[in-house]
Amino acid sequence: MQVLGIKTDLVRPGDDLVEFLTRAMNRSAQVLQDGDILVISESIVATSEGRVVNLEEIKPGDLARSLASRYEKDPREMELILRESDEIVGGIPGVVLTLNKGFLFPNAGIDSSNAPPGHVVLFPADPKGSATAIRERMGKGKRIGVIIGDSRTHPLRLGCVGVALASSGLEAVEDARGQKDLFGRELKITRKAIADNLVSAAQIVMGEGDEGIPAAIIRDSGVPINEAGGEIPTIPPAECMYIGALGIGPRPYSGGYDRLIECAGQAMARAYAPYSSFRVGAALLTKSGNIYSAGNIENASTGAGICAERAAMAKAIASGEREFEAVAIVGDGCEPVSPCGICRQSLIEFGEDILVIMANCKGDALTASTSDLLPQAFTGRCFK
Ligand code: THU
Repeated sequence: MQVLGIKTDLVRPGDDLVEFLTRAMNRSAQVLQDGDILVISESIVATSEGRVVNLEEIKPGDLARSLASRYEKDPREMELILRESDEIVGGIPGVVLTLNKGFLFPNAGIDSSNAPPGHVVLFPADPKGSATAIRERMGKGKRIGVIIGDSRTHPLRLGCVGVALASSGLEAVEDARGQKDLFGRELKITRKAIADNLVSAAQIVMGEGDEGIPAAIIRDSGVPINEAGGEIPTIPPAECMYIGALGIGPRPYSGGYDRLIECAGQAMARAYAPYSSFRVGAALLTKSGNIYSAGNIENASTGAGICAERAAMAKAIASGEREFEAVAIVGDGCEPVSPCGICRQSLIEFGEDILVIMANCKGDALTASTSDLLPQAFTGRCFK
């Protein structure tokens, strides 16, 4: 197998990537052959598509500001991360782990390396569409594959490996299940990440910095060209050993419980909170389809107060209901209301997978299950 780097100029927003790569290949007399696989770095795809943003033009919202301070990020970059991702899984100082269309990204794939000062490059708009369009135009009748590649680290490992964001013209993952190991045992879960491995091979010559080699041709890899292939298969977070093992944190509310949120908002209006002036409403949806709601009830003797969630639970349980599907909690703060520790403990008593919808009056809303919010909870099982 040969890996041939393609040395190019600096790509600019609006450049036609196919013409740009063809010019670079012509300069070094490189010609695509049948069976070649072209690996292209996502940053030149995104840049040529004009996905470059001047941070000065971004006005961060309240949620972006609060997450930026939690994760020590530029609030404008955090605003872009929120706009670009489906879900924020968590983070550490400086990096937020996000999910987008089933792919995990650091910082929603937003990159300030290889971007002009004060600018960032967003993730390509449609990597799969771009890979296919580039394959069709670059191949000019030849049977080639195209992969748009990026870099990732493996958990607990230092150093990046290649990862395919999109591929066209080849099978991205080869199913090796059913094949036999050296001792004749059937392989049960092995699948080969062919496209990722090809990106790693290409990255040996491509580099990440100012080398000026943002693409490579992989020749004689033995990977068959298959015009129909290309989908990069993903698995749900709960089935992923890394994410599933760690549990995933609150995710953006994606609909389905608007009526419950509305009931929580109405209960908030009836809350009795003269001491904190922070009114909260909670609405519990039972598996039988009923809704029980209440606001927080404060007291001159501060500790005698009760949160909205537990007030709503008292109503539901006193009405004979113990099976809960979801609870919506609404407050009038800058962030969605996150239930207090006592309410988490009270809720988990009635179910480890009750959906908790945390919202504010501005329409920000996050969801999590009771066990996401209270891992390793003390439960009645402890008595058995
Ligand atoms: N509060 C709730 O009702 N639910 C929560 O999840 C958080 C806090 C109330 C308790 C108190 O009356 C007021 O908010 C301020 O702490």
